[in-house]
Amino acid sequence: MKFQAVIFDLDGVICFTDEYHYRAWKAMADGMGIPFDREINNRLRGVSRMDSLEIILEKYEGPALSEEKKAALARQKNDLYRESLREMSPRDLSGEVKETLDALRAMGLRLAIGSSSKNTPFILKQIGLDGYFDAVSDGNCITRSKPDPEVFVKAAEMLGIPCVDCLVVEDAVSGAEAGHAGGMQVACLGDAALNGAGDWNMKSIRELTDIVKG
Ligand code: BG6
Ligand code: MG
Repeated sequence: MKFQAVIFDLDGVICFTDEYHYRAWKAMADGMGIPFDREINNRLRGVSRMDSLEIILEKYEGPALSEEKKAALARQKNDLYRESLREMSPRDLSGEVKETLDALRAMGLRLAIGSSSKNTPFILKQIGLDGYFDAVSDGNCITRSKPDPEVFVKAAEMLGIPCVDCLVVEDAVSGAEAGHAGGMQVACLGDAALNGAGDWNMKSIRELTDIVKG
């Protein structure tokens, strides 16, 4: 086997929360009269909540915002976002994702999550993957957001497997950069794959079962 472990990003790889993130940020931005569109939204993939807010505020033209106000805006977005997450269920875990995870595990690979999201435990519970992964490294245990490699390096440490033996799976360019900065190879999906950011740029997550064989 070419790898001992696979570290998965969550949003946009294991489940499709992108639209929920977009709608919640859009409502917050509209309320503040800040222009916000899907192009700006693409820059938020993999980026922490507070760093995402700073990117959105690049287009803000009003009086300076205090740290308290910024925290309140981020909270407003997160409250709206969590309302959408509450509607999620195991039906939101696609067959191809679950079958691929099970196939990789049956091949003897250790499986981990490496996500910037502080909502990771809640999302995993909603989609029925609570307790499924051998390690969960998320926004609650890091100090630096992707493209910093911290979240993936922590996942490898939790697994007790050297970074070079871990494959990262990502849909964000910032996430692919984070994997590479951690000395890992990266298989990309979605936006990151379209940008050619990965060592492999996949059309389907099912391709992983061949990639890990080398
Ligand atoms: C990442 C998403 O997984 O998590 C980003 O791609 C998001 O868009 C980030 O900003 C932080 O998420 P949360 O749930 O902690 O606000
Ligand atoms: Mg993602």
